[in-house]
Amino acid sequence: MKGNLIITPENVQAFERSMDMLDNSIKEMQRVAHDMMPETLVNFGLDTALKDFCDTINQGGALSITYQSIDMQQVVVNQTTAITIYRIVQELVNNIIKHASARSALVQLSNEHNTINITVEDDGKGFNKELLNPARGIGWSNILNRVDFLNGKADIVSEPGKGTSVNIGLQYTPG
Ligand SMILES: Nc1ncnc2c1ncn2[C@@H]1O[C@H](COP(=O)(O)OP(=O)(O)OP(=O)(O)O)[C@@H](O)[C@H]1O
Ligand SMILES: [Mg+2]
Repeated sequence: MKGNLIITPENVQAFERSMDMLDNSIKEMQRVAHDMMPETLVNFGLDTALKDFCDTINQGGALSITYQSIDMQQVVVNQTTAITIYRIVQELVNNIIKHASARSALVQLSNEHNTINITVEDDGKGFNKELLNPARGIGWSNILNRVDFLNGKADIVSEPGKGTSVNIGLQYTPG
C-alpha cells in the first residue's frame, strides 16, 4: 500500500496543510477545555476548589453545606480526573438545591489506598430512584457516565421523606 503512494510536491503541501489544521484544532480544543476549568481547580487543586464551591453555595443562603475532606490535601490526580470529580459534586449539589428542599447538606471526600470516596448527603425530601431517568433530566446520566469513565462505583440511597445519600468510589493512579 505504502509502496503505491506517489508523493508529489502538491501532496506534500496538502499533507502539511492538513497537519497544520489538525495542530490548530488540537490547540483550540485544549484552550476550550482549559477555559472551562474553574480557576481554583487549575491553581489550587481539587480539595480547595470543592471547598470554595461549597463556600460559594453557603454564601447564597439557600442551603447550609458542610465540606469535609480527609487526607485529600496531598492527593495528586490528573486534570481530567479532577475536573470529572468536580463536575460530579457540582451536579449532585445543584440537584439538592433544585429538588431536595433540604436545610443542610454534607459533601465529604476521603482518600485511602488510592481510592477517592465521595459522599454527598442531604436532609431533604428524598425521591424514588425511578425518577433517575434520562427522559427527565440528563444530570444523573452524566454523573453515571463520568463514574464509568473513571471505572468507579456509585450508590444512591434515597426514599421519599428521608433525604438522599450518594456514595461514589473512584480508584485513581497517582500523578
Ligand atoms: N437530592 C435530590 N433530592 C430530591 N430529588 C432529587 C435529588 N436529586 C435528584 N432528584 C430527582 O431526580 C430527578 C433526576 O435528576 P437529574 O439530575 O437526572 O435531572 P434534573 O436535575 O431534573 O435535570 P438536569 O440535571 O438535566 O438539569 C430530578 O428531577 C429530581 O426529581
Ligand atoms: Mg440535575
